[in-house]
Amino acid sequence: MSLNRRIVLASRPVGDPVPENFEVQDVPMPEPGEGQVLVKTLWLSIAPYMRWRMNDAKSYAPPVALGDVMVGATVGEVVRSRHSDFAAGDIVIGLGGWQQYAVCDGKALRKQDAEWGKSAVMLGVLGGNGMTAYAGLFHIGKPKPGETVVVAAASGGVGSLVGQMAKLRGARAVGIAGGPEKCRFVVDELGFDTCLDHRAPDFPQALAKACPDGIDVYFENVGGAVWNAVLPLLNDFARVPVCGVISQYSATEPPPGPDRTPELMRLILSRRLELRGFVLTDFLHIQDEFNAAAVAWHRAGQLRYREDVHQGIDAAPQAFIGMLKGRNFGKVLVQVAQD
Ligand SMILES: NC(=O)c1ccc[n+]([C@@H]2O[C@H](COP(=O)([O-])OP(=O)(O)OC[C@H]3O[C@@H](n4cnc5c(N)ncnc54)[C@H](OP(=O)(O)O)[C@@H]3O)[C@@H](O)[C@H]2O)c1
Repeated sequence: MSLNRRIVLASRPVGDPVPENFEVQDVPMPEPGEGQVLVKTLWLSIAPYMRWRMNDAKSYAPPVALGDVMVGATVGEVVRSRHSDFAAGDIVIGLGGWQQYAVCDGKALRKQDAEWGKSAVMLGVLGGNGMTAYAGLFHIGKPKPGETVVVAAASGGVGSLVGQMAKLRGARAVGIAGGPEKCRFVVDELGFDTCLDHRAPDFPQALAKACPDGIDVYFENVGGAVWNAVLPLLNDFARVPVCGVISQYSATEPPPGPDRTPELMRLILSRRLELRGFVLTDFLHIQDEFNAAAVAWHRAGQLRYREDVHQGIDAAPQAFIGMLKGRNFGKVLVQVAQD
């Protein structure tokens, strides 16, 4: 009997996730029912939102139940189909999760354009990362030519695209990243105007110097100390798409005082700031607009990206734990089976 290797949530983390929160299981191969498709996972996207889904807390998406397969977007190959739109051999994008084979509802799958082969590009630059960057930047941040756009986690999946898209529309892009190697990559390879190391002791001063005209759009990916350095530099009428606050995902208690909320509220009022949280699924109505822009940029080689690839499904927990600590360099992917 053929087996399916999968990774389930064994326990809920308190603070940073640890390997013991996950369990590797070999279970009988699942069978697709009517309207379903059996998909062999080729690529699994590892992303920070998975940390939230490990908590038993109310959020924009339900938690993963204990004993359930960890959630995740995948590119896979159809092995067996009981849905009229799919046949064996089709390459599909879906939410297969952390496992070698997944039974998916046909309605929840999309065929991958043959132009992109079996590659992981639909999980990154042309997929969730690209759409998140595009939606937050252009539908909330709305940078004008010449304005200053700042983004943290600038070498990562979303941040790397935010700065490049900002530049493509004529804005100035300032990145923030962890360490000199990532900062060099953000400037030399991605073409940002500059990039600051948030671990450097003089980071707040360096950021102020790099933004002599203040900040018009701050694309928020990390929160915490980076946000504290950005806030005083925001211009009147600055826009802040709040995409993620990764520095807070594993926090078990509020940061040490003082309470900065009164200062934040004062600045929101006096500088007429716009802060708006968003999740990708709020913007499904702009999918066609995003596809047209991103495919054109991608074909022209104008959106550069770096992938941080781990081999085999067993590597998923460590890839995830490392990403939350900034040990990744680029979009985190697990190659579950060879293309
Ligand atoms: N709203 C949505 O729909 C949506 C969709 C996708 C992603 N997101 C959010 O977007 C953000 C980026 O996600 P991604 O998938 O592109 O991940 P990523 O940037 O590829 O990887 C995460 C990066 O976060 C940075 N980081 C981790 N802890 C940090 C800390 N304490 N302070 C500063 N930086 C820290 C690290 O970069 P450095 O080493 O450079 O610091 C790390 O490499 C996350 O907050 C995620 O939740 C939101």
